[in-house]
Amino acid sequence: MSSIKDAAKSLYEGFLVAFPTETVYGLGADATNEKAVSRIFEIKGRPLDHPVIVHLSSIDQIEQWAVNVPKYAYTLAEKYWPGPMTVILNRSSSAKDWITGGQNTVGIRIPNHEIALSLLEEFRKIGSGAIAAPSANKFGKVSPTSFQHVQDELSQDLTLQDAILDGGNSAIGIESTIIDCTQDQPKILRPGFITNKMIEETTGLILSDSITNIRVSGSFKSHYAPQAKVLLDVEPQSGDGFVALEEFATPLNVIRLIAPKNIEEFAQNLYYAFRSADEKKLSRIVVKQPLGDNLALAIRDRLQKASNN
Ligand code: TXA
Ligand code: MG
Repeated sequence: MSSIKDAAKSLYEGFLVAFPTETVYGLGADATNEKAVSRIFEIKGRPLDHPVIVHLSSIDQIEQWAVNVPKYAYTLAEKYWPGPMTVILNRSSSAKDWITGGQNTVGIRIPNHEIALSLLEEFRKIGSGAIAAPSANKFGKVSPTSFQHVQDELSQDLTLQDAILDGGNSAIGIESTIIDCTQDQPKILRPGFITNKMIEETTGLILSDSITNIRVSGSFKSHYAPQAKVLLDVEPQSGDGFVALEEFATPLNVIRLIAPKNIEEFAQNLYYAFRSADEKKLSRIVVKQPLGDNLALAIRDRLQKASNN
């Protein structure tokens, strides 16, 4: 495993670095290097009009990437960064079309992971300090939540000068909450660990439910999908994989993939469960969806998308 300083140097030289965050692992490139960023799209097999998040280490870097930032966006940033939240802002001239997918907005996040933050800080000493990174998986597939997942999925596409940093298992396990902060009221584009209630309480604003014309990841019908077919809240049959909270017993001849004790554990282990079903070559995964708001709502969002394959 390369050291963080070496990884920062790789970014500076235009190579890619996959790195851990508290949500999922990202595949990063210098956000000011068009060639490096284009390699991310190639490796992921991602459509070019699909924007990537710019990861930063400090709030004082926002103005380099965004203009007309509303006060409530700073309030959210002060409260939840570093953390599992991405804000969509009006872009500055630094945020080129190949970052924003040609849109006039840019997604920004400061991740809460020691390794990610050190990488960003080291990279700021020698380069732009801004890392463009989508989740480190092939387009439409399951986001990686461990070093091993990234290796399994991307090692054949990476060269010796690229790097994968090992930060253990992602603490949260599903992608960041994405909040559109380009209007008078914030609007959730992708639910996550930072909930509606947290946003409304912090900003004192009511979330907008207006229809957005912003394109957002996972707003494709099928996404976050394993090879196996994902079925929600049906009776599992013999040979099916099964995902449910611990309190639900495993039916006879059904393969229990995970038995999380609570909603947090459910989020942490969900993508691991999807991947292990594929390793076991199962054809179906039956998931008993968790009930409730907040993180359960974000889990159901991913499950709905995964079940559209
Ligand atoms: O937790 C996360 O957000 C992880 C970690 C690595 O930070 N990243 C992640 O990236 O999930 P990705 O690319 O797989 O999904 C983020 C989505 C993009 O697909 C895109 O739709 C949305 O964020 N996004 C980025 N910039 C945007 C923009 N300017 N306008 C609207 N949506 C944007
Ligand atoms: Mg993704």
